[in-house]
Amino acid sequence: MKVLVLSGANLGRLGLREPAVYGSRSYADLVTACQKLAGELGLAADCRQTDDEATMLRWLHEAADLGVPVVLNPGAWSHYSYALRDAAAQVTGPLIEVHLSQTHAREEFRHHSVISAVATGTITGLGFDSYLLALRTIAARTHGASA
Ligand code: DQA
Repeated sequence: MKVLVLSGANLGRLGLREPAVYGSRSYADLVTACQKLAGELGLAADCRQTDDEATMLRWLHEAADLGVPVVLNPGAWSHYSYALRDAAAQVTGPLIEVHLSQTHAREEFRHHSVISAVATGTITGLGFDSYLLALRTIAARTHGASA
């Protein structure tokens, strides 16, 4: 079963970007970790990152059209993009919103996500484990399904 692991704006700069907040491991390291666990869980993780909101909308439409589950880190779009929320709402497979940092312990504007209300669940503040736990949940929920 295929799963889309989608990361939004600035997440390609992991390792370089505010390491005190996001850690020293790179986006490539994140992809490696996700693909390794996905393989163990019998999932095929298609990991993608973009700084372009229109591209992210297209990927969510693709997930909706194909019925593919999604792990989504919307980055800063979480806090204001109604367009992304409307696209996420169309995804019928589980859609798990993830954040590396504990957004609730940071600036006020990060405390609210416009995506959460249309996500199956949200995992926040666990670093790479936020993504890995989301993959475990998707594997558990889609067990026996094929795509
Ligand atoms: C983030 C949290 C967002 O507030 C921030 O804009 C990001 C990353 C996280 O993974 O912790 O870009 O989504």
